[in-house]
Amino acid sequence: MIKAPQHIRAIKPYIPGKPIEELERELGIKGSVKLASNENPIGPSPRAIKAIKNTANCLNSLNRYPDGNGYYLKNALAKNLSVKPEEIILGNGSNELLDIAVRTFMNPGDEAVMAQPSFVVYSMSVQAAGCTAIHAPLKDYKHDLDAMLQAVTPKTKMLFIANPNNPTGTVNTKVELDRLMGKLREGILVVLDEAYYEYVTDPEYADSLKHFRNGKDILILRTFSKLYGLAGLRIGYGIARGDIVAEMNKIRAPFNTNSVAQTAALEALKDRAHIKQSLKINSSGKKYLYKELLSLGIKYVPTEANFIYITMDEDSKTVYESLLNQGVIVRPMGPKEIRVTIGLPEENKKFIKALKKAVS
Ligand SMILES: Cc1ncc(COP(=O)(O)O)c(C=O)c1O
Repeated sequence: MIKAPQHIRAIKPYIPGKPIEELERELGIKGSVKLASNENPIGPSPRAIKAIKNTANCLNSLNRYPDGNGYYLKNALAKNLSVKPEEIILGNGSNELLDIAVRTFMNPGDEAVMAQPSFVVYSMSVQAAGCTAIHAPLKDYKHDLDAMLQAVTPKTKMLFIANPNNPTGTVNTKVELDRLMGKLREGILVVLDEAYYEYVTDPEYADSLKHFRNGKDILILRTFSKLYGLAGLRIGYGIARGDIVAEMNKIRAPFNTNSVAQTAALEALKDRAHIKQSLKINSSGKKYLYKELLSLGIKYVPTEANFIYITMDEDSKTVYESLLNQGVIVRPMGPKEIRVTIGLPEENKKFIKALKKAVS
């Protein structure tokens, strides 16, 4: 019987949530809200939906392969970012680009440094390539870039920074990133995962593009899954020096991003009204949740993203189950921590009502 190699068998699988309808059926409940995956609660950009339906070459051309080079989307992104199209790579979600980066630049036995807790896919991709994930604990819920620097060994090939971090929503500052980039030895690719960067309001937020412009070994990852509300279409992008992108393109599947996603992303980028509304809903939802959590005496980590990391006195699994039974789906994280996505006003209200009951 075929067996996967040991380094594959050792990977802890990512457990996806059940479809909401199935969950409701099992629990015998209705009208539940999903605040577990940091999706945009207002939905996709209406301009993107319109473009999918109306663009002659979109739905009517599904018999054709997509543009494997993502010409229009890459050009639009390049113009917005003042970079060259050949400095952009498109991915089937930014998730795929994490994987491609690891497979492009790491050899079995190499090490990658990452924070703990941070986005779980980093260690999964690294392990899948037969490499070792080295974890540096967060400090005050944010990446401790000095500790990450100290974790670097001669075997280190990659360093992952989620900025803002998932699950804590914290950011690293310009000063912190500049110090890291100044001290890091040559030959290490810094993967700066900015999946939530559009939500950030902190004026000290790190300027990753500056390091790209300075010719550093940096790969900046962004996505259409969060602010742009296109998680279901799977499209994200990376920004890096042309030579880095060229190597990654060699192992990218030729048609990795689909035509519907490319069309939708191109329009979502231009949909100022949707972007503005998404940010507004997030900002007011954040204020509401802060106020309610404070009045409940429940601690949270101030967030720069579209989710909040809540630290409680209670066991997180118990709280998670109780919320679930009340029709609110969140993500249990550490033993006493849950992560909740900032939702629509009525969703946030339902969450607070259920949380009150769960911790009482
Ligand atoms: C920090 C971080 N990076 C990357 C991703 C992956 O996003 P995408 O949908 O673009 O694959 C997520 C998704 O939750 C995330 O939280």
